Amino acid sequence: MALRKLVAGNWKMNGSLAALAELDAIAVAAGAHAGIDVLVCPPFTLIPAAVARAPDLIFGGQDCHHAARGAHTGCVAAGMLKEIGAAYVIVGHSERRADQHETDADVQAKARAAIAAGLIAIVCVGETEAQRDAGHAGIVVSNHLDGSVPPEATEVTLVISYEPIWAIGTGRTPSLADVAEIHAIIRAKLIDLLGRAGERVRIVYGGSVKPENAADILSVADVDGVLVGGASLTADQFVPIVEAAA
Ligand code: G3H
Repeated sequence: MALRKLVAGNWKMNGSLAALAELDAIAVAAGAHAGIDVLVCPPFTLIPAAVARAPDLIFGGQDCHHAARGAHTGCVAAGMLKEIGAAYVIVGHSERRADQHETDADVQAKARAAIAAGLIAIVCVGETEAQRDAGHAGIVVSNHLDGSVPPEATEVTLVISYEPIWAIGTGRTPSLADVAEIHAIIRAKLIDLLGRAGERVRIVYGGSVKPENAADILSVADVDGVLVGGASLTADQFVPIVEAAA
């Protein structure tokens, strides 16, 4: 089933007010391709200025807290992101699972908070290189979904991002057959967890997506978009990826 494609950029801890100039060309490309969703997730601090500069683009955060408010120094609630114009939030990125020791239960709680606040949660899953070499990629991803997907999620409130950890920032990607295999496993698991809604939850691929490989990756069954890190930082790299999805 062809779902509306999502091309998402995750700036991670990169960018500056000056870097928001990149949004101008990205917004033009997004405006020219109304049949897809183009999302940029800058650092929290840049979101208000990004919204002001490119009001027709879609913006998201890179994390949120599971609580709506409270004594959690340095954290940001989903409702706060919503208030400043975010529509999405990434949760459970492997960098946070590693750096902040986030568990599947943490990720599920964050996704639930995001949905409750009116955001679309992008839940990230993916295996390490050792897990893939051991033949465990499918079961690792399946277990991530079991633990991280909120039961109340629907195709409107949830996106899954398959990000093999060994492909992030390395220039390496799985074969298209391997991407297809894992996305099929994710689709089956989503239907198992969410019923009919699971047929329409978008599943995007992330990990060294570049202008050179975007069209091939996007041609794979059940790849409903891409989550782009390094190549989302500049319009000259990100716009061709947007065009590959259109
Ligand atoms: O969130 C984005 C992913 O971690 C992919 O990053 O495109 O730099 O490999 P990358």
